[in-house]
Amino acid sequence: MSKVDEITRESWIMSTFPEWGTWLNEEIENEEVKPGTVAMWWLGCTGIWFKTPGGCNITIDLWTGNGKRTHGDGRMKEGHQMANMCGARAMQPNLRAVPFVLDPFAVRQVDAVLATHYHQDHMSAEYAAHVIKSGMTTTDQEGRRIPVPFIGPKKSVELWMKWGVPAERCVTVKPGDVIKIKDVEITALDSFDRTCLVTTDSTGPDREELTGKCPSDMDEKAVNYLVKTPGGNIYHSGDSHYSIYYAKHGKDYQVDVAFGSYGENPVGMQDKMTSVDILRMAEALRAKVVIPIHYDVWTNFMADINEIRVLYDMKKDRLDYKFHPFFWEVGGKYVYPTDKDKRAYHHRRGFEDCFEAPQNIPFRSCL
Ligand SMILES: [Fe+2]
Repeated sequence: MSKVDEITRESWIMSTFPEWGTWLNEEIENEEVKPGTVAMWWLGCTGIWFKTPGGCNITIDLWTGNGKRTHGDGRMKEGHQMANMCGARAMQPNLRAVPFVLDPFAVRQVDAVLATHYHQDHMSAEYAAHVIKSGMTTTDQEGRRIPVPFIGPKKSVELWMKWGVPAERCVTVKPGDVIKIKDVEITALDSFDRTCLVTTDSTGPDREELTGKCPSDMDEKAVNYLVKTPGGNIYHSGDSHYSIYYAKHGKDYQVDVAFGSYGENPVGMQDKMTSVDILRMAEALRAKVVIPIHYDVWTNFMADINEIRVLYDMKKDRLDYKFHPFFWEVGGKYVYPTDKDKRAYHHRRGFEDCFEAPQNIPFRSCL
């Protein structure tokens, strides 16, 4: 058979997807985390992989799906949280704008699966299936071998269980709860994701009527996390909007690095923090480094990180900022505190061994 005869749509998908294959899986596995540091990788959206010197690997919000893939009937479900929020009915053009940098089915070891909330871009049934079916285990504080736990607020746990994750593997957390995993201590904190408050269980016409109702309890729907590691304390704010209560978290806890969900909100929408909010959040949390995330993933919420840079430069002296922003790339690694003075990330450029092997050129001056 010729190559043309052999090729099918399925063979194309299998040979090109996920776009990064197992490149990042291998990089994470091979990383030796030095004492007193924590290594992190951005998996896209708000997905972060943490790896510590004590061999603790955890993921927060690893998600492996996408957005719109067809125009369909051009309509949004009238009970979708965005429709609940602004009364729109036309389909939201949220196409996935970043490649898949991790193969969830090639993950060999993780010690806990965490979610900040239950929106579709923050949890993964595929990843859950792999963790369950592969029989992945970890060790508890007493050194006993236990199945890898799934940790999240009540609504996230309900979704995992609906997918078939056994109840005994799920840990429901609410603000104030503390969980220890190897050399990491995770504190669940208040979320400020007001989009979660207008999320109804049904997205159909039978959706719950919210008008005139006191909002449901955010603590059951979403949490933020403070991840205390040997390299420093990392604050993951999930999809939180701006809140003055960041200042209380900043007084209650030492925050070294803060992740904030940044985006260019379409007119009629208030779902992501703006550049101003990201700077205010970092100042309130008394963070040392702030890293915008989530702006990468949706075509209709993509934002320019230079806006944060410009505002930061305008305000840092007058307001005596004690932090700086770091601009990351999906698939990239950030080690704290090793990389604490870096301002921006670039993927490895390669060719480090140039001119170390013989060239094959007509003559040197052609270069
Ligand atoms: Fe999100």
